[in-house]
Amino acid sequence: MQSLINKLAQESPFFCSEIHGFKHWQQVEKYALHIAQFNQANKQVLSLFAYLHDCKRENESIDPNHGIRAAEYAYSLYKQKSINQYMQIETDEFDLLYYALKWHNHDTVSQDETISTCWDADRLELPRVGININPAYLTNQTAKEIANQSQTSFFDFR
Ligand SMILES: [Fe+2]
Repeated sequence: MQSLINKLAQESPFFCSEIHGFKHWQQVEKYALHIAQFNQANKQVLSLFAYLHDCKRENESIDPNHGIRAAEYAYSLYKQKSINQYMQIETDEFDLLYYALKWHNHDTVSQDETISTCWDADRLELPRVGININPAYLTNQTAKEIANQSQTSFFDFR
């Protein structure tokens, strides 16, 4: 993961952002790996999602295409598979990662444990920008419990 992080430090415009940068990515990974203690989510995909999902943002507010840009950027790294120093994952794992990245900023949930864990972990970070979490967009019980502990009222986050 360190080689990917080093690459993102060079290539992600928001790496140093307090809102959508490395600090946020680390927290998303922390939440995701915590949730994964209680389900069967693919931990390698979770970590890759955490570090890649906001890496191609173009601004700190409304950027509706940053999910697909992150997915395509991930694909550009994945294509170098034979010499890949950035992600050591199989095709079925990459398919999960691509889907999770592409759709993470849309009003949707997934019943896939890996994808839902990615999205729950990112949504648990919404209070950092003053947005309360809508529990209807959380899938895993563990994530719902964390959200319940961190806030007393809920509003739609979009
Ligand atoms: Fe995020």
